[in-house]
Amino acid sequence: MDVKKIRQDFPILSRKVYGKPLIYLDNAATSQKPKQVIQALAEVYEKYNSNVHRGVHALSMEATEKYEGAREKIARFIGAPTECMVLVRGTTEGINLVANTWAMSNVKEGDEILLTEMEHHSNLVPWQRVAQAKGAKLRFLQVTEEGTLDLSRLDSVLTKRTKLVAMNHMSNVLGTINPVKEIARKAHAVGALMLVDAAQSVPHLPTDVKDLDCDFLAFSSHKMLGPTGTGGLYVKKAVLETMEPWLRGGDMVREVTLESATWNDLPVRFEAGTPNFADTIALGTAVDYLQSLGMNNVREHEISITRYALGAMKELSEDFHFFGSPDLSKRGGIVSFHSPDLHPHDLGTILDREGIAVRAGHHCAMPLVRGRLGVPATARASFYIYNTEEEVDALAAAMKKALKYFAKAPSGKPRA
Ligand SMILES: Cc1ncc(COP(=O)(O)O)c(C=O)c1O
Repeated sequence: MDVKKIRQDFPILSRKVYGKPLIYLDNAATSQKPKQVIQALAEVYEKYNSNVHRGVHALSMEATEKYEGAREKIARFIGAPTECMVLVRGTTEGINLVANTWAMSNVKEGDEILLTEMEHHSNLVPWQRVAQAKGAKLRFLQVTEEGTLDLSRLDSVLTKRTKLVAMNHMSNVLGTINPVKEIARKAHAVGALMLVDAAQSVPHLPTDVKDLDCDFLAFSSHKMLGPTGTGGLYVKKAVLETMEPWLRGGDMVREVTLESATWNDLPVRFEAGTPNFADTIALGTAVDYLQSLGMNNVREHEISITRYALGAMKELSEDFHFFGSPDLSKRGGIVSFHSPDLHPHDLGTILDREGIAVRAGHHCAMPLVRGRLGVPATARASFYIYNTEEEVDALAAAMKKALKYFAKAPSGKPRA
């Protein structure tokens, strides 16, 4: 992959922050957008902006064709049939849709939902509500010292009572890639369904829902070069056919009387109101862009830059604790770290003054960060297709500078 050439597609990467070149290492929060995506969005509004699925006029038909064309591309990107690709605002909405429809009708008192300790709040809080409403129990797979899932208890916690297993494919804090395919197989063996929170994986790993054999998979456009406010929820057809629409109104109906309504075809019956067609069309362009790079190459680049980062950070390992597995086959391009001498927010501020954007906080995974990892927050660098080894070097140098400024010189040297 030609990173130099890729960088030229991203206008924001040429801007300066505090007079320094921007080094954007907050890709797990949201990615930057290539000019192709920005242009696709401008083109909708400049050339054919019109409501979809409603008009008989040329603009509406053009917009509808582009929107449905984007759906097809997005579905193909994750190996899904088009009719199973529900377009939602993002991962959080996708998971809430499943919680509010499938789960509210299928989870009963005494049932169990199996989650992990490393879930983002978006894949935890909706299940807390389902459990409270239905008298079901949440159970959790734990995280090992190394930051991988402890699967030793899987066979004992996965029982006939388990209705759903819901977990992320890649942790947004640890970068850990979870064996969701193997877990889906075991979930199905006890009659449970499998939901994959793919917010961090679809942008970074080749994804095939048929191969994973999951029942639900949710992801967000804005983390995969696309615009904000759109994303996808895949639902296996046999399951989707049984689900009641969650939000109602707009074009999700077939026949409406004053007293009742019947539903439109799959998947449109799950898209009430005017859909976010402009951003979804531009997400289709983001998919084209990623596909032109090749998802295997995206993954290779991230393995390579993460290997480089872990190497560059070695000399800081007495002052910082780095979370996550050293095994690069089990992790993506996310590196979280913490120093007892330096609060992550202070570190984040110093890095910012160097033009380096990282995330500092609990990353919407409070039970993992505060509970399991036992720290108030971490700083997190997360990489994508446009990040370079020089940027990693700049990060390591700025971390050293921050230690010196706020706390102490890197180990072995006296405080400045
Ligand atoms: C693992 C994971 N799940 C869910 C989400 C929520 O995604 P969104 O805010 O796009 O709905 C995120 C976002 O950071 C995430 O990292």
